Amino acid sequence: MKKLCALVLAGIMLIALAAGCSGGDGGVKTYKVGVSIYKYDDNFMTLYRQEIESYFKTLETDTVKYNVTMMDGKGDMVEQTNQVENFIAQKVDVMIINLVQSSSAATITDKAKAANIPVVYINREPSADDMNGWDKISYVGADAKQSGTYQGEIIRDLADNGDINGDGVVSYVMLVGDPENTDAQYRTEYSIKALTDAGIAVEKLFEQRGDWDTAKGQELAANALAQFGGQIDVIFANNDGMAMGAIQAIKTAGRTVGQDIYLVGVDAIPEAVDAIAAGDMTGTVLNDHIGQSHTAVDAAVRYMSSESVDKYLWVNYQKVQ
Ligand code: BGC
Repeated sequence: MKKLCALVLAGIMLIALAAGCSGGDGGVKTYKVGVSIYKYDDNFMTLYRQEIESYFKTLETDTVKYNVTMMDGKGDMVEQTNQVENFIAQKVDVMIINLVQSSSAATITDKAKAANIPVVYINREPSADDMNGWDKISYVGADAKQSGTYQGEIIRDLADNGDINGDGVVSYVMLVGDPENTDAQYRTEYSIKALTDAGIAVEKLFEQRGDWDTAKGQELAANALAQFGGQIDVIFANNDGMAMGAIQAIKTAGRTVGQDIYLVGVDAIPEAVDAIAAGDMTGTVLNDHIGQSHTAVDAAVRYMSSESVDKYLWVNYQKVQ
């Protein structure tokens, strides 16, 4: 009799355990989330992805858990497509995707749609056409035009309007992120537009892609400084990662920010905020990774609860000087 009781008890425990694991009716519901980041080795996206993970944790309760699988896209679209296929095979409930190539959004959406798994795209905006590909896809980002405008305004509002060598024209160097990305396109365009809209004369000396990367930013800034020397008034970097590299190049060239050159970035990563305080950088624009990651996670949670989600969810930038 004792043996029988023990067996029955063990059986009940097994059933309870199985129910819990399957996320079914055992009281605890576990949602599966697949996240793929375009590349882990990116200063800004590192802050962003860490916040996605910690924010999901804060939303857990005794009865709701989030099983988040996060993958490194390694800057390789083929690799990222495989990751998405694996998420689909694992039957995740929702995906959060930071595309390696924004132009591949349609391919990813088609796969997600076939499996009926909603997608929250983040940081790299798919085209408007691609965003109309399905009603269960959303984009969370910040308006890149605003960040470019703010960069230009930081320079415009200086006492000399950015013309630090006083020759009557703001001669600039542009360190471009990834030209396929709207963040890079609009920051490049709107930073300068803020100056020309104010009637300030500008001259482009140098514009090259640095892929958002510190080492490349340093190399490009060093080349520009070697080529154009004292002609350069301002170095615009599409992000702080590249601006960090430019700081090194500026120092090596014997130049001093605020005295004979200006440098402005975007993101307000902690290193950039420190650099501004130390006088090594003129300003930056806060790219709110906390606001964006929380908005993306909230959108994912709404999709998982079958609630409606807006197609576009925008988070504001802020000037930091
Ligand atoms: C950020 C960059 C980052 C890029 C990645 C941009 O919004 O400003 O720092 O490298 O996103 O796509």
